Amino acid sequence: MTAKRDFLTLADVPADAWPGLWRRAGELKAARARGERITPLAGKSVALIFEKASTRTRVSFEVGVFDLGGHAVVLSAQGSQIARGEPIEDTARVLSGYCHAIVLRTFGQARVATLAKWATVPVINGLTDEHHPCQVASDLFTVIERHGRIDGLRYAWIGDGNNMAASWIEAAGLFGLDLTLACPQGFTPDAALVAEARARQGALGRGTVTIVDDPRAAAAGADVVSTDVWASMGQEEEAEARRRAFAGYCVDAEVMAAADPGAIVLHCLPAHRGEEISGDVLDGPQSAAWQQAENRMHVQKALLERLVG
Ligand code: CP
Ligand code: NVA
Repeated sequence: MTAKRDFLTLADVPADAWPGLWRRAGELKAARARGERITPLAGKSVALIFEKASTRTRVSFEVGVFDLGGHAVVLSAQGSQIARGEPIEDTARVLSGYCHAIVLRTFGQARVATLAKWATVPVINGLTDEHHPCQVASDLFTVIERHGRIDGLRYAWIGDGNNMAASWIEAAGLFGLDLTLACPQGFTPDAALVAEARARQGALGRGTVTIVDDPRAAAAGADVVSTDVWASMGQEEEAEARRRAFAGYCVDAEVMAAADPGAIVLHCLPAHRGEEISGDVLDGPQSAAWQQAENRMHVQKALLERLVG
């Protein structure tokens, strides 16, 4: 019996397996557009647990599982025994008896790791405070669609050193990307994560992770400019203080003027126009945000097929 495979951070899929996975996402996307059904999850069920709000992750997984011929069971913390305090270890063992995989969106990364430890079926991280691997996996697929490759490009991250930034840093380490992050003081990413990515880049012999505080400096010559909200889920009470701390960190026309003229803009959404991104940029010709949102489904289908199908 082979060990079950979880997807808790991007590195859980080896770097050399990603090109095949993105190729498969492209095939599944094209097949869907032709109306062709590919059903490796026939007879299988996937539990989707949400301890935080979601639009894209919920719908892309639920429709994705349906497309693959499987059945999705959506559970919110409220309305299940989870919010009433049933241990995640017990939830893991019970759901493993019914379902062939579990997707969890939650707070601490330790909680999804505990779920994975106790579940006997693959567990997928649907976002934690620390990582958002499904999103960055889809974002890299979007980069391939737009730029034809992920290598040899310059990547900028502007804003909070949050879960999305962390998954980008992990990607920079795995694939040897050149990533520059512009973050205000006090909101820079986890230093250990940056060190780990740089060590991986050292072993690969390519890639850089650079942290600056000027958004224009990060965007200079960039091919891919990414941003995200200033206050993530769970930080609602800090929103006003964060608005002050992040003033000047809006991805607007001025920041984009520093980027390569062919640069694309990514935002995982939901967005706050006029805060981390201006409306004209998000809704403008360089924005890939809507394609990026759709791609969540295609990439997650390829991932589900690999882990479960
Ligand atoms: N980008 C993303 O994960 O969106 P949701 O919060 O709507 O799932
Ligand atoms: N950083 C955001 C991403 C939402 C998809 C959050 O965690 O709320």
